[in-house]
Amino acid sequence: MTSTPSPALAPTIAVLGAGRLGTVLAGALRAAGFTVHGPLGRDAEFSTVDLAILCVPDAAISDAAATARPQAHRLAHVSGATGLGGVDLSIHPLQTFTGGEPPEVFAGIGAAVDGRTDADLALATEIATTLGMHPFRVDDTHRASYHAAASFASNFVLTVLDAAEELANEAGVERAHLVPLVRQTVENWAASGAAAVLTGPIARGDEATVARQRAASGHLGDLFDALAAATRDLAGRKDDA
Ligand SMILES: NC(=O)c1ccc[n+]([C@@H]2O[C@H](COP(=O)([O-])OP(=O)(O)OC[C@H]3O[C@@H](n4cnc5c(N)ncnc54)[C@H](OP(=O)(O)O)[C@@H]3O)[C@@H](O)[C@H]2O)c1
Repeated sequence: MTSTPSPALAPTIAVLGAGRLGTVLAGALRAAGFTVHGPLGRDAEFSTVDLAILCVPDAAISDAAATARPQAHRLAHVSGATGLGGVDLSIHPLQTFTGGEPPEVFAGIGAAVDGRTDADLALATEIATTLGMHPFRVDDTHRASYHAAASFASNFVLTVLDAAEELANEAGVERAHLVPLVRQTVENWAASGAAAVLTGPIARGDEATVARQRAASGHLGDLFDALAAATRDLAGRKDDA
């Protein structure tokens, strides 16, 4: 659910960076009632705004901040891995964006927010909640583990799913037939956590079947070994429960 920004906290916003997140965020802020410039490319000029949100790669944040500072009363970034550094506030939507998502994509997702002052944090929180996000704080000392969690939950899941798809294709089975299995697994994990819902040969202690799977994994053998070792640990936690 989104709500109209309150007049006291309705800043004019420039979104800098017309990539995956910048494009979607600019559209969502506009749809929520903010006055938005952008998404703007790297050399775009804009009139002075209350807030410039830097949707640029993490390594470009400090350069983009220095460039935008004269035109913006406040600066924000949207990086999960980066502390405030040279900006005033940060809003990290805990979601994956490919650039084509509708404005509603923000509704119901989490967002790590931070601010240099109470007013900066209030603005980050207000923008997040106006887009329907659920804001939370992450201490700077835990930023790297927070961002690694996001990579495990999204990037690495794709790596594993791509391996699953390759092996299924070798067996003449299409990706579509894996989808219900993946969805049910995620639902089970969301409801109860991984240890409680683990099934399969490792959970059953069927090492002969695991060895046959390993032999069939071809160039994915190293990935299989790493995942099998981690899954044995998980199965151990299940036994301990
Ligand atoms: N995509 C996601 O799923 C996601 C999720 C949460 C948070 N984020 C955060 O969002 C930020 C952007 O990520 P992204 O995935 O949207 O990256 P992206 O698709 O690579 O887009 C980055 C954009 O920034 C532009 N850019 C680079 N340097 C710039 C500068 N100095 N001034 C203005 N524009 C500049 C790039 O333009 P050029 O093409 O000209 O280089 C590009 O259009 C990162 O901080 C990332 O951590 C992304």
